[in-house]
Amino acid sequence: MNGNHQLGIRPGETLGQSSAQGLGSARGNGFLPRLMRVETVREETHDVRTLRLVPLDPKAALAWRAGQFAFFSVFGAGECVFTIANPPTRAGHIECTFKELGKVTTALRRLSAGQLVGFRGPYGNSFGVEDWAGRDLVFVGGGIGMAAVAAPLRLVLDRREEFGEVVVLNGARTAADLIYAGEMAEWERVDGVRVVRTVDPGGERAGWAGEVGLIPDVFERLGLAPDGRVVVVCGPPVMLTFMLRALDRLGYAPEQIVTTLENRMKCGFGECGRCNVGPFYVCRDGPVITAAQLRRLPADL
Ligand SMILES: Cc1cc2nc3c(=O)[nH]c(=O)nc-3n(C[C@H](O)[C@H](O)[C@H](O)COP(=O)(O)OP(=O)(O)OC[C@H]3O[C@@H](n4cnc5c(N)ncnc54)[C@H](O)[C@@H]3O)c2cc1C
Ligand code: FES
Repeated sequence: MNGNHQLGIRPGETLGQSSAQGLGSARGNGFLPRLMRVETVREETHDVRTLRLVPLDPKAALAWRAGQFAFFSVFGAGECVFTIANPPTRAGHIECTFKELGKVTTALRRLSAGQLVGFRGPYGNSFGVEDWAGRDLVFVGGGIGMAAVAAPLRLVLDRREEFGEVVVLNGARTAADLIYAGEMAEWERVDGVRVVRTVDPGGERAGWAGEVGLIPDVFERLGLAPDGRVVVVCGPPVMLTFMLRALDRLGYAPEQIVTTLENRMKCGFGECGRCNVGPFYVCRDGPVITAAQLRRLPADL
């Protein structure tokens, strides 16, 4: 067992392996995307949408692991990076959930079912889900960070009997900003799964039955003892900072905490140096990283 496996992370693969195994970049040109057709569009909130994509070539193989990311492109606008939001247990298509922020995400927001996008990937390492067998798990997603939690969570739910208790803690600024509303209701009905949703003070709407408070505070109120639990936490940097402090106060070891990094990227496969923090290349050595590894990175993250 190597160091990464002990930390609950599967190492990344080289571009060659990704290309050979999955719907990656065409061999010989790492930047060449494959064509995907938008099969369905789901509006999650006023500025977040989920796309379900299928390969234009029905014979194209799709292979990826939970936690990996890809580049999604719109002709004439450019490309941007999203986590692959569906796990490999839900095969045959690719899902991404994204927030409209700038040029490419605005162009992606204008697409309708039937239109084409470019896709290159998968890239990066992945969550070491196999190392979580029998353990209690907590998935914490803040805002659009819930999209990064979605693939390992859905994978665990698809293989429910292999894991202990599952807690999902999802927070957003307001009730209108919470994503995956329909699915959350389904998850709540699964045996041994507890879903907690929270909004910032003032973000409630009439009849709001969830929690009110910041995610780290709500986590502390849940009283979840460390007891070998794995905590997957993704969200904005400020939330992550306060979550790590809360988990430290509660006695969680940094090795029990896994997150993902979202540094700006250009190539996605360790060639351009756009995403690195010291010797750590987020696209190649991440994006999945434990709090223990995070502590060892230079402070300029
Ligand atoms: C590994 C990884 C996984 C990601 N997964 C998702 C995901 O699942 N869903 C999602 O909505 N977003 C995700 N992101 C962020 C996403 O890549 C950016 O929001 C997107 O590229 C913005 O593109 P744009 O052209 O629309 O915006 P731009 O015009 O490029 O920028 C618009 C605004 O967003 C800011 N911005 C752009 N990229 C980033 C970034 N990486 N980090 C912080 N701020 C940024 C810019 O500073 C600017 O203020 C991920 C990023 C990485 C690196
Ligand atoms: S994005 Fe090019 S090295 Fe990471």
